Amino acid sequence: MKITIIGSGYVGLTSGTCFAEVGHHVTCVDNNPEKIETLLKGEIPIYEPGLAELVQQNVAAGRLKFTTSTEEGVRDGEVIFIAVPTPPQPDGSVDLSFIEKVAREIAQCLKPELGYRVIVDKSTVPVKTGDKVKQTVRRYAPEGVEFGVVSNPEFLREGCAVDDLLNPDRIVIGSNDDKALGYMQKLYEPFVAPVLVTDINSAELIKHAANSFLALKISYINAVANICEAAGADVEKVAEGIGMDKRIGRQFLNAGLGYGGSCFPKDIKAFIAISETLGQPFGLLKEVERINADQMNHFLDKIREKLWVFREKKIALWGLAFKQNTDDVRESVAIKMARVMLGEGASIVAADPQAVGTAKRFGNLEGDISYADDMYAALDGADALVIATEWPQFATADLEEVAKRLRTPLVFDGRNLLDPEDVKAAKLEYYPIGRPAVAG
Ligand SMILES: NC(=O)c1ccc[n+]([C@@H]2O[C@H](COP(=O)([O-])OP(=O)(O)OC[C@H]3O[C@@H](n4cnc5c(N)ncnc54)[C@H](O)[C@@H]3O)[C@@H](O)[C@H]2O)c1
Repeated sequence: MKITIIGSGYVGLTSGTCFAEVGHHVTCVDNNPEKIETLLKGEIPIYEPGLAELVQQNVAAGRLKFTTSTEEGVRDGEVIFIAVPTPPQPDGSVDLSFIEKVAREIAQCLKPELGYRVIVDKSTVPVKTGDKVKQTVRRYAPEGVEFGVVSNPEFLREGCAVDDLLNPDRIVIGSNDDKALGYMQKLYEPFVAPVLVTDINSAELIKHAANSFLALKISYINAVANICEAAGADVEKVAEGIGMDKRIGRQFLNAGLGYGGSCFPKDIKAFIAISETLGQPFGLLKEVERINADQMNHFLDKIREKLWVFREKKIALWGLAFKQNTDDVRESVAIKMARVMLGEGASIVAADPQAVGTAKRFGNLEGDISYADDMYAALDGADALVIATEWPQFATADLEEVAKRLRTPLVFDGRNLLDPEDVKAAKLEYYPIGRPAVAG
């Protein structure tokens, strides 16, 4: 099929590329000329494992192209996806101005002679946005244009987006119209995954409800971690014991510094705002947010307690990305923590396998911070190592080398990556989350 993706960011570029990979002809549109220029040169503006190769192969096969022209996209694609940002407003509700603008732009490019078009919202949007998109397209499109509107929320995870898109747990299609649904079913035919068909409102709600539930699991285990810490128990064992119950599952029960990234913080805020607008305030999610915010402060207090003050202390910071296998630093807890430590007078040498560039560009980190290419070089002469992102190479670090390079052998592990036995053997003083410290 011929499809178009409007918005070629994390979601648009990766999903467009995967649609091309399964045989569709895809036009990716973006109104950022720099981004399109980069893609036309054969370079990828983001780091996502496996994506660069797939883009190259599909461009070479003539199934994937890039343009800044929405008009070209609307002409090319019988199914047109919207994958633009839906950022939070100061009150937590969703800023839908990007979606409104794209809906208007699509409408203005539609012509009756192009034939039927399906407009699919892939961005994460509040329930009832589909109605608004339909209304806007109807209002701005010329007479005689035929179209359908569909909600198709995206569940990919940055860092394993290609695999998530090619082998999804489920595909959710929200449609109130059989013709549009027929196009979507054909589009997804090459994928081996359960397809759940719902009305548009339900599909839109599924995305916010799913992300809120995952955030709830994270805050739940973090609250349990704090209880473990106070009681001298080990949250890793507790999580294992809880997770062995099939009704609960082990995933998303990793105690740590809490959730960050471009999705969870904004989606939880959005769901709280949506629930309030609908007169059904979801207080539980406010508690999820509170626990999440406290988690970083609690960890910083733990570091303060050992270092006494940050002023004139040199911190080796492992991790800048909001999670492993990505260069994305949006709402990264590592970055927020770095900001606090710098603000209190620490000097930081940071290392991250992929996110140094994005941290420099978007991190707004002011103060005495420098970046090391090598994670071990960041340790030289530092008063403490702080681990903030769960990169696998940090988990398998050579702890003898860590101990040799640090000035004082203090390790604060915000992601519970290290094995306490190994840490003990390397004679490091170790402070994880929700498990007993290894001291002296
Ligand atoms: N990143 C994720 O992991 C993820 C996962 C699932 C869902 N989502 C949702 O998907 C949506 C997009 O997120 P993202 O992370 O891909 O954002 P992003 O910022 O990486 O990409 C959005 C792109 O849209 C482009 N754009 C904005 N206005 C445009 C316009 N009028 N015409 C053409 N292009 C335009 C921007 O230049 C940018 O490249 C959001 O609603 C987000 O919540 C994101």
